[in-house]
Amino acid sequence: SQFGRIVATARYLPSKVVTNNDLTQWLDTSDEWIQSRTGIKQRHIAEEENTSDLCTQVAKKLIEEQNIDPATIDFIIVATMSPDYTSPSVACIVQGAVGASSAMAFDLSAACAGFVYAVATAENFIRSGQRRGLVIGGEKTSKLIDWTDRSTAVLFGDGAAGVLIEAADEPYITKQNLNADGRRSKSLVSGHRPTNSLFYQEESQGGLTMDGRGIWNFAMNDVTTSLKECIGSDSVDYYLFHQANRRIIEKMAKKLKEPLEKFPINLTNYGNTSAASIPILLDELVEAGTIRLDGTQNTVFTGYGGGLAWGNVLVRL
Ligand code: ACO
Repeated sequence: SQFGRIVATARYLPSKVVTNNDLTQWLDTSDEWIQSRTGIKQRHIAEEENTSDLCTQVAKKLIEEQNIDPATIDFIIVATMSPDYTSPSVACIVQGAVGASSAMAFDLSAACAGFVYAVATAENFIRSGQRRGLVIGGEKTSKLIDWTDRSTAVLFGDGAAGVLIEAADEPYITKQNLNADGRRSKSLVSGHRPTNSLFYQEESQGGLTMDGRGIWNFAMNDVTTSLKECIGSDSVDYYLFHQANRRIIEKMAKKLKEPLEKFPINLTNYGNTSAASIPILLDELVEAGTIRLDGTQNTVFTGYGGGLAWGNVLVRL
């Protein structure tokens, strides 16, 4: 049987940068509050580009830099909670834009856990016979947010990144641990589509809402427990944690009794990019030479967020 291996990474960030100070022009907030509570200094914001444009740039980079024939791609999975449309999927738009004519393509909705869910899904496809796929996390969170709500508007950013996964003879994505709890689905709500039919009309519920403290406790309790379960007695070189809040990552490092150096952080520059946060971080680490993609570094990807959905995959990179 065949197993999935991450062989290349890429990212694409829209060019507009919005700093914390920029936000104070219309929000009662401060650079000091945002940095001390979250670690975020700035975020990238897409203007005319939509989620599919960001993801297409990532797919093109992966194809061009690896010099592969797009017709040899078997699947494209896009993890997103901010698709351009409910149909077509972002993944289908990307498939058409890059000419991946043999690829099945679909979006996966698991909010900030989306990339982890998508990597696990890709691994399972490869174990059942597919040979090559793109897994992309891409978000335009800026279109979901209520920009007058300081408690959420300061937290998020736009961006996309992804990986090329290919069949290999031995396992690289060695463990997967995916979870959900729909009883807490109201803790993070976004993208409500009001019914406007001949038979029933409904008011819009407005922009993204989040129970910040609830999500914080969820990260500290459920996510920590699942991460420990996933790791077991394995030793880990790097923890690539969903980039929502610096303080959550610092506390997590303490709970795991691991040095903070094993938890790379880049939310400073991007804010919370939801499903894109882990692959953006991964691509930066590959670019810096910290992660070598030579199969010797034991790494965990941990994502958590709306759903509630959370998960971990243990990956040799
Ligand atoms: N600027 C200034 N003041 C603010 C701001 C702001 N941007 N936002 C809130 N405040 C105020 C509040 O009004 C409150 O004032 P009060 O005490 O007078 O009522 C005070 O600051 C404290 O607010 P809290 O919400 O209690 O602040 P907290 O310290 O809990 O930090 C935060 C909020 C950063 C959201 C934190 O709870 C957190 O990080 N939670 C986890 C979020 C997370 O990880 N989300 C990831 C999932 S996202 C996904 O799945 C898409």
